Amino acid sequence: MKPLVVAIDGPAGAGKSTVSRRLAQALAYRYIDTGAMYRVIGVLAAEQRIDVTNDAALAALCDHTKIEFVESDGRVCTLVDGRDMSDIIRTPEAAQLASKTSTVPVVRERLVAMQRSMGASGGVVMEGRDIGTVVFPNAPVKVFLDASPRERAWRRASEMHDKVGDEELERMTREIAERDARDRGRAHSPLRPAEDALLLDTTKMKLDEVVRTLLEHIATRAAALESHS
Ligand code: DC
Repeated sequence: MKPLVVAIDGPAGAGKSTVSRRLAQALAYRYIDTGAMYRVIGVLAAEQRIDVTNDAALAALCDHTKIEFVESDGRVCTLVDGRDMSDIIRTPEAAQLASKTSTVPVVRERLVAMQRSMGASGGVVMEGRDIGTVVFPNAPVKVFLDASPRERAWRRASEMHDKVGDEELERMTREIAERDARDRGRAHSPLRPAEDALLLDTTKMKLDEVVRTLLEHIATRAAALESHS
């Protein structure tokens, strides 16, 4: 089977990361987390006190930063110029910083170029918000994973160490629905499924079932491509 680009898009909490990592493992493909790249630039910009309105400094920062995803002990680490930033980019502060820097057009331009070169020879599972629509509009496999706001809030709550009550869950559900509306409505790279993406609502699906469904879909797409070549 020719190594393909598998594009996985969808809102936060739809299961993209876990599913993408499982797919990459099963296919022996590289896993590329584009959200982590926006987080890295957000954190570095804050460390270097670069303002989000400073296009030239942000562009230079992107141009001089080398981001790699390296597997170590069964875990994918985010290495930035050799520094392991895997943990620091997972804080709520890093998420806030990423959500701001990811709206800056020069940052998107630079990171999209980086993502294209990372996936140029295929054999990658790339997850994000705009992979099937902007980064690889010709990707042979495009998937849009979704789940209801309540289910996504529930999944996020289950990842937290403290127990979350009903009221808190309601609040998280509302927040997620509001963020969705913002992401889907924004002018630059709005979150939307590519026309030819497989839409998969994972609200009532188990992880294994999602992975199995997608591996079957990828095999079908690969076979169709082989028979056309
Ligand atoms: O998926 P995540 O939470 O790690 O993403 C971090 C931020 O980057 C989030 O605000 C969405 C944004 N993002 C984006 O705009 N485009 C991508 N391809 C990936 C993430």
